[in-house]
Amino acid sequence: MDKKNLIQQLQGFMRLAGGFRASRVILTANNFAVFEHLKTPKTAAALARKIKTDPRATEILLDAVTAVGLLKKTGTQYQNTALSSTFLVKASPMYQGDMLRHSDTLWENWSGLDLVVRTGLPNRAGERHHESFIRAMHNNAVFRAKDVIKAVDMRGVKKAPDLGGGPGTYSMEMARQGAKVTLFDLPNTIVISKKLVKEAKVRNIDYIGGDFHSDDIGTGYDLVFISQILHSLSKDESLALLKKSANTLNPRGRIAIQEFLLEENRASPVPGALFSVNMLVNTTAGRCYTPGEMKTWLAKTGFKDIKTKALGDTVVVTGRKV
Ligand SMILES: C[S@@+](CC[C@H](N)C(=O)[O-])C[C@H]1O[C@@H](n2cnc3c(N)ncnc32)[C@H](O)[C@@H]1O
Repeated sequence: MDKKNLIQQLQGFMRLAGGFRASRVILTANNFAVFEHLKTPKTAAALARKIKTDPRATEILLDAVTAVGLLKKTGTQYQNTALSSTFLVKASPMYQGDMLRHSDTLWENWSGLDLVVRTGLPNRAGERHHESFIRAMHNNAVFRAKDVIKAVDMRGVKKAPDLGGGPGTYSMEMARQGAKVTLFDLPNTIVISKKLVKEAKVRNIDYIGGDFHSDDIGTGYDLVFISQILHSLSKDESLALLKKSANTLNPRGRIAIQEFLLEENRASPVPGALFSVNMLVNTTAGRCYTPGEMKTWLAKTGFKDIKTKALGDTVVVTGRKV
């Protein structure tokens, strides 16, 4: 490779390494609800009075938020761009601000990565806002729920639990397709799930508050749906949950798992490899698992006809009870 090409690559990596600056500017703007306030144009001084911040610091921050494309500046007035009005204003159905709020917590946790790598222990230093975390999961699922449930294939499914269903985004999509869904999650999450399902006016969902490791998850199901759960568990915990799922299914019942995609060499693609670090930082034994690993686990826990379907940055793995 010639020197010019190497220098270009280096510049790309330096931008990546310095990406924390843009990231921090966006997270701080979101923390101060800048995008709620800039639905209409305001000067930095007017905004600083509203959000009780320092006017000079606010102006410098707003200029940087403008530079990264989330605000436009006309004279001394700042206002949302199409991007921020579509995704960072609470009333928007495609709101992503909860994910930014959750990323702010992750920022604190990831800042301890050196220590995590030295000790192998998680670093949960960030203040945990449980509702923001659950709503962030909704932000993440809202764009993909239709495609995921289509890949799961709901034909013949009358009764299905959504294990660790969180905000209920997938439960709602399954219920819309005619299944009676049981959203199973921890009691403090169920309080939030109920609010979200009520906001969306979806029926045909009931709730069980409990721990899927130790509590009864019900029986007589045609499909068990497990989305974005295994990455927070160890291999043994995952195997136990899959076995427990097999035992709750009707004969010929099916299982469907959704996880972020990680290739078999575990070093690609970038989002999957970085998400594995996220689970290293946040859990005692979690990481991303590859489709091959999940297929092996399903075969070991009583499933056959095991298939995988990649859907962009996630993969859906399905199987039928032996
Ligand atoms: C990453 S979220 C996934 C939410 C949802 N399945 C999705 O894909 O959007 C993990 C969910 O698992 C729930 N959870 C974690 N540990 C659990 C446990 N031991 N029993 C039941 N639910 C649990 C959390 O409350 C949270 O809602």
